[in-house]
Amino acid sequence: MNTKPSLSDLADQAEYQQLKEFEDCLATKSLLFHLGDGYWSQDIGFGKGTGKRLLMGEDPRLPKMPDKPTLQDFFRCRFAPAQTQHLLQSARLAKKNGMSEKVIMACLLHDISVAGFIRADHGYWGAQLIEPYVDEEVSWSIRVHQSLRFFPDESVGYPYPPNYITMFGADYKPEPYIVAEYERARNHKWYMTSRMICVNDLYSFDPDLVVELEEFDDLIGRNFRQPEEGLGNDNTPSSHMWRTLRQPCNAL
Ligand SMILES: [Fe+2]
Ligand SMILES: [Fe+2]
Repeated sequence: MNTKPSLSDLADQAEYQQLKEFEDCLATKSLLFHLGDGYWSQDIGFGKGTGKRLLMGEDPRLPKMPDKPTLQDFFRCRFAPAQTQHLLQSARLAKKNGMSEKVIMACLLHDISVAGFIRADHGYWGAQLIEPYVDEEVSWSIRVHQSLRFFPDESVGYPYPPNYITMFGADYKPEPYIVAEYERARNHKWYMTSRMICVNDLYSFDPDLVVELEEFDDLIGRNFRQPEEGLGNDNTPSSHMWRTLRQPCNAL
């Protein structure tokens, strides 16, 4: 009788061991998570007095990522599924509307920050995250779309978004930095690229439609410089952001 454990037995054992070790570990949360609950404290802080180690490294509660993750791995293992569909459906609409590859790529990544880690100032965070890997026109457009969304452009049939009235109230006025960004962008050579994100930004996306990420593999291949060593293992100004997405509860 063969008593040798199979590969899947070994994988199960490794997973069990990882979870067991995790029980002796504390997963700390950054202040930002607590602020999101209106709670102004670090909570367990450095874990003093708990008798436990702090989690450093892979978080066994989250989907396992490959050693050298690609953009697609982050889409599949970290980004929120509903917001991922918003990105995919917006990109598909841009493609259907005959937009350029840069616009389709910008649509595919325009809310990557909301889908992946933070809502506030999402255009700025998203642009910074992808800046080292895409054409400057793509990241610029993503940064600026956050502001342009608030301002109509009748020349391309873009009204003030009706859902913004529901979301922010009829009397909401964008903050001065948003107005200033819009005014700077209005005469910029890439204005229309960013404006096309707004035009193809599908707010009432279909919850029953599932667009597969594979549909954009070739586009990503041509427009996103995947680092050989994997996102986060490379050495760019945003590598730390990818690492944090991968291991969001590292204690330091
Ligand atoms: Fe957005
Ligand atoms: Fe959007």
